[in-house]
Parts: sequence; C-alpha cells; structure tokens
Amino acid sequence: MNKLISKSRIIAGTMSWGSWGKNLNENEIADLIAKFCQAGITAFDHADIYGGYTTELEFGKAFKKLSVNRSNVEFITKCGIMYPCNKNNFEVKHYDYSAKNIRKSIENSLNNLNTEYIDIFLLHRPSPLMQVEEIGDIISKLKEEKKIISFGVSNFSENQINLLEKTTNIDWNQIELSITNNSPFTNGLIDYLNQKNIGIMAWSPLGDFFKTKSKSNMALLKLLEVLNKKYSSTNDQLLLSWLMKHPSKIFPVIGTTNYERISLAASSENIELEITDWFLMYEKINGKRVP
Ligand SMILES: NC(=O)c1ccc[n+]([C@@H]2O[C@H](COP(=O)([O-])OP(=O)(O)OC[C@H]3O[C@@H](n4cnc5c(N)ncnc54)[C@H](OP(=O)(O)O)[C@@H]3O)[C@@H](O)[C@H]2O)c1
Repeated sequence: MNKLISKSRIIAGTMSWGSWGKNLNENEIADLIAKFCQAGITAFDHADIYGGYTTELEFGKAFKKLSVNRSNVEFITKCGIMYPCNKNNFEVKHYDYSAKNIRKSIENSLNNLNTEYIDIFLLHRPSPLMQVEEIGDIISKLKEEKKIISFGVSNFSENQINLLEKTTNIDWNQIELSITNNSPFTNGLIDYLNQKNIGIMAWSPLGDFFKTKSKSNMALLKLLEVLNKKYSSTNDQLLLSWLMKHPSKIFPVIGTTNYERISLAASSENIELEITDWFLMYEKINGKRVP
C-alpha cells in the first residue's frame, strides 16, 4: 500500500466547504487550507461534483494564493457521477466511466486544482455499466502521462473490486465507515481490503453520532464522558481514535471546517485507546455484548 499519504493520517474532506455547505469565500478557503497544513493534515479529498462542480476550482484558486509547496500536499479527487445541476443538462443522475469521460474529468480536475497531477484518483461509485477493459486502459494511459500517481475506487464492494482488478491495480477504497456505521468490520469488506493491501479511507468517520440522538448514540455518549476524563480527550477524538486503532490502518476523511476540531482531529492519532475501551465503545454502539 500506499503509494502516498506519507504525511497525514487524517484527510481533509472538502465536500461542504463551498455551496454544498459552508459557502466559504476564497480567503476563508485559503485560511482553512493553511490551518489544515499547520495541523499536519496535508491530504485534501475532493470530487468533481462537490458544490455542483464548483468546489475544486474555488479550492484551486485559494491554494494558489498560499505559499504552500504542491509537493508538500496530496490531492485526492473522484470522477464519474453525472449530477444534474445548473452546470449541465443531464436528464438523470447517472455514472459515466467511459474513457472519454474519465479523461475529460481528470483534465477538468487538473485545471481546477491548478496542478499537473492528482495524487489519488478515485472512481466515485460503482456503475452497473462500467466496462473494466476501457477503465483499465485509460487509467494506465493517465498514469503513463503522470496525471495520476495512484488509482482507487470509492464505495466498491469486494466483487466490484475483483472485477475491476482484472484490468488495473486498485490502491484505495474510500468507504463509509465509522463506529456508528461499522458493518464493514463484520461483513468481510475490511478484512478483504486488508488482505489485498488496499488502503482504506473512511468517509463520514463520525457517522451519525453528532446528528442523531439514537438510544445507542446516547449510550455511547455516556461512556465517552467517562473515557474523556481518562484520555483527556473529546468525543470526536475518541471516535476517530477508535477507527485508527484498527490494524488495517484506516485514514479518516473528516468534514469539519472548525479550527479547534481540526487541531483535535490531528492529535487524535496520538490517543492510545486500550483494547477494553475499544470493545466497550463497540458494545455501546451495537447495543449488545460481543459474543
Ligand atoms: N466517497 C464518498 O462517496 C463520500 C461521501 C460523503 C463524504 N465523502 C468525503 O468525506 C468527507 C467527510 O464527510 P462528513 O462531512 O460526513 O464527515 P464527518 O467528519 O463524519 O462529519 C462532519 C460533520 O460533523 C460535525 N462535527 C464534527 N465534530 C463535531 C462535534 N464535536 N460536535 C458537533 N458536530 C461535529 C461537523 O460540523 P462542523 O463543521 O461544525 O465541525 C460536520 O458537519 C467529505 O468532506 C468528503 O470529502 C466522501
């Protein structure tokens, strides 16, 4: 594995920086990028569609204003979701992994991000119509042209990975994974990715913990109040350290734009959660004892 993300274990997710969330202006985005870099978080997760195809460009303009060296950061982006919005006239949301569309998408992302290469390029979601020979062929060309350093997928199952691996190597799978959404730990996916040495990025690594007052979240909250005293931590730090304790070396993709939470997330890697505390948290969220 892992043909990159040498520096940062936590990845900064940009999905909500623009019109899909915080509506940050160029200066605010530049300040935010600088804040992440200061905290030691140097990998930035994008997708062409974020902000209805606008956030990559906003990020690129803001990054240009900073004196951060491109080789000191990593850019991840994704392609393939054709999302109807005011930038196009798609009749329906769909996926397009034709060579023509993958090339168009990478060229757009390179222009938007004002860079010569993408560190990690991902197919955003599996498509029932994907032609793996065509994908394998265009990905090797883009690697030869040094426009892509590393290739991966997002939201792919074990079978979909096997299918695509007929024609290309897969270095990463970015999946929805958190303590509140922990089925990949038991449905075989994490073990499979681990066995294949495919890097795992966890999107929405805090799950619905801060969004839903479910019985299990409330039970976990009660436990976290106790554990925070023991580890001098915060709730979000413990949720991240729970994921990072897993031996498959999970890379959480965090969505916060809050400066204090960014610093806390960066230092969550240093929390050494004891095994029993890991299982106590697991028990609380699952609402039952481990068998
Ligand atoms: N590959 C895919 O299909 C896919 C899908 C979805 C997302 N993603 C990627 O994953 C990234 C992260 O996703 P996410 O935003 O769902 O991640 P997340 O880090 O699990 O959630 C972030 C949200 O939690 C809130 N939060 C964090 N700490 C909190 C606290 N202590 N108290 C209250 N609220 C708190 C944040 O609010 P504040 O901002 O106010 O802190 C923010 O709204 C995205 O930006 C994107 O890059 C990928």
